[in-house]
Amino acid sequence: RETVSETMNRQVLLFISLLSLGVSYTIPEEMSKGSLVGNIAQDLGLETKRLTSGKARIYTRDSDEYIELNRERGVLLVKERIDREALCRQTTPCALHFQIILENPMEFYSVTVQITDINDNAPTFEEGEIKFKISESAITGAKFVLERAVDLDVGMNDLQRYELKPTDNFALKLHNNADGNKNVEMVLQKPLDREKQEQISLVLTAVDGGEPQMSGTMLIIITVLDVNDNAPVFTQQTYKATVTENSPKGTVVATVTASDADQGSNGKITYSITNTLDDVRKMFKINRENGEVTLIGNVDFEESRNFQINVRASDDGGLTDSCKLIVDVQDVNDNNPEINIMSKSTVISEDAKLSTVVTMINIEDKDTGENGKVLCFISENVPFILKTSTNNFYSLVTDSDLDRERASEYNITVTCSDEGVPSLSSSVTLTLQISDVNDNAPVFERSSYEAYIVENNTPGLSIFTVKARDADWNQNARVSYILEDSSVNGVPVSSYVSVSADSGVIHAVRSFDYEQIKDFQFRVKAQDGGSPPLSSNVSVKIMIQDQNDNPPQVLYPVQTGGSLVAEMVPRSADVGYLVTKVVAVDVDSGQNAWLSYKLQKATDRALFEVGLQNGEIRTIRQVTDKDAVKQRLTVIVEDNGQPSRSATVIVNVAVADSFPEVLSEFTDFTHDKEYNDNLTFYLVLALAVVSFLFITCLVVIISVKIYRWRQSRVLYHSNLPVIPYYPPRYSDTLGTGTLQHVYNYEVCRTTDSRKSDCKFGRAGNYRHQRQQPEF
Ligand SMILES: *[C@@H]1O[C@H](CO)[C@@H](O)[C@H](O)[C@H]1NC(C)=O
Ligand SMILES: *[C@@H]1O[C@H](CO)[C@@H](O)[C@H](O)[C@H]1NC(C)=O
Repeated sequence: RETVSETMNRQVLLFISLLSLGVSYTIPEEMSKGSLVGNIAQDLGLETKRLTSGKARIYTRDSDEYIELNRERGVLLVKERIDREALCRQTTPCALHFQIILENPMEFYSVTVQITDINDNAPTFEEGEIKFKISESAITGAKFVLERAVDLDVGMNDLQRYELKPTDNFALKLHNNADGNKNVEMVLQKPLDREKQEQISLVLTAVDGGEPQMSGTMLIIITVLDVNDNAPVFTQQTYKATVTENSPKGTVVATVTASDADQGSNGKITYSITNTLDDVRKMFKINRENGEVTLIGNVDFEESRNFQINVRASDDGGLTDSCKLIVDVQDVNDNNPEINIMSKSTVISEDAKLSTVVTMINIEDKDTGENGKVLCFISENVPFILKTSTNNFYSLVTDSDLDRERASEYNITVTCSDEGVPSLSSSVTLTLQISDVNDNAPVFERSSYEAYIVENNTPGLSIFTVKARDADWNQNARVSYILEDSSVNGVPVSSYVSVSADSGVIHAVRSFDYEQIKDFQFRVKAQDGGSPPLSSNVSVKIMIQDQNDNPPQVLYPVQTGGSLVAEMVPRSADVGYLVTKVVAVDVDSGQNAWLSYKLQKATDRALFEVGLQNGEIRTIRQVTDKDAVKQRLTVIVEDNGQPSRSATVIVNVAVADSFPEVLSEFTDFTHDKEYNDNLTFYLVLALAVVSFLFITCLVVIISVKIYRWRQSRVLYHSNLPVIPYYPPRYSDTLGTGTLQHVYNYEVCRTTDSRKSDCKFGRAGNYRHQRQQPEF
């Protein structure tokens, strides 16, 4: 090249110094064929004829002819495409040198055509793409040599600069080489992060300075290599989980998760529990691979309410992170309430006041919340209530009056249940004895007693037993019987009966006589052994029962020792003539006093009969003259008692029409004279006595009536005066006049229906029998 340029320089010099004839043109490369280069004729001062005549032509040593001469027009034209880069490469300036040769005369002219560069070449890279593998740990300032670009153009059209985009991590650095070229380097400005961008694509652009500007690009692909620059990271610093107590082993409690941005083993995470001091590791285990925490022990809320598990995650590169897993244990109602008896009494007096505290109870439930909220109650229908004062303290107090006699013992069941679902409960039974207080008086089995005793009893006979019961207990129920002081007919009752203090047996003290006393009343007191003692009393009525201890007594006809009394029967008497009537009484009562009459012996049994009921002696056939004057009848009077008692009476009957006849018949009766002497006197006396007694009886009856009317209360007393009673049949209703019946009274009590039967008088009040005529 040097030689070429030197030659060129010499030619130019020649041009100027020797020939001084020549022209120079400048044209850009790549002009189209036929383009005008220059008007040579004009420039050389030649006429076109001369060119033609001189046969002007171009002389060049080069093989290729880029320029041609048009003789007719006298111009130079582009004959071939001129590529400066092919012609001169990088040499500047680039010119074509040739001569125009003329003949006739021969002359020549040097012509220089300078070819100027146009920007027809872009910078180019040898390869369109290059790849790098760079570790993310590469430090800033690390250099990476890049390929250069080439631009065939020259000057401004040549490669001017490089651009690298994007510029996030790398910058370009150019080094000037000795040969004037530039080395291109890429320098790491900012560390790479695989985790952010695993592949980086950069575009390197080479730009020339032409107009228009041209450029070439190359793709740089960087693969970032991983290093373990990331520790595992838990998704949360603190995890929370709950587990119900008594959950079975194997229950998954929670899953912790950590992530590691690194790749491969740098990002492989292993989980572990790091607690050392507490027993968390006995309770939980973690799956090394997936961070699942499961239960391996028994959780008991009452022992620990929560666990703090420290979990570590580590990658294979040894980087770690840790987190906390807080496991709250949820309570399950698994504890029964506990009932503690703080203090209790086993015995309480039945007169205890209301609200007396019997037992104090404390309740405990280990569970919490509703599971530990306890309510207690007691069995119903007991006179106690459960009062709660402060939390979980209860006292059992009396709620109503106690009565040992109704219930002497209570089994009080206290049941406590919590409010968990399902609820748990426990119970305790308290046995409470009620102690006795003397609050019950003895009570007799009956409101009043009536007893019967047959008269003529042996003294000391036990009549019957009164019994009183006392509802109290023991000494308070020990009953003693006491005879209350009173008097019967003015005599202390204690002379009639006695009461056995222990047994309540009532004994007769004396022998009773029904005919003297029919009944009597007294009171017996029952008293218990309490302090003070309580008592009650009952009325006892003893009724004496009759015994057939009295034989009938014949009132008429009067039986005298020697005197002779006879009934007269006229010989004219008809059948059924009432001769006389045997009158007898029996002081006993009832059947014992029911009398019957029978004829026992008779002089002539065919002549007389005796009425069985009424004792009337009547004739049963016509009396004849043949019948003896003197008839003697023996009548037996029997009562109806068991055994029966009887009396006999002899009735003398005189069958005669006149008294002297009778006398003559009865002269053998020795004592008859004396009777006759006093006959008149006795008759008068008897009449007076009977009249007096009648008036007395009337007075007594009226007095009694008045007394009854004044005293509303009616009591029957056996010792009232008794009026004798003769049944109506005793009176001579046939009006024969032979029997005096002035003393036939009848007293009927109407005030007492039970006693409305008529009472019989005592025979003793009427001992006035000697009124009969004596013979
Ligand atoms: C109370 O319980 C005891 C023992 O179980 C029993 O013997 C007694 O009869 C019970 N008392 C009442 C009043 O139920
Ligand atoms: C007997 O009891 C009655 C009440 O039942 C009482 O009024 C009376 O005073 C008592 N009599 C005696 C002597 O205690």
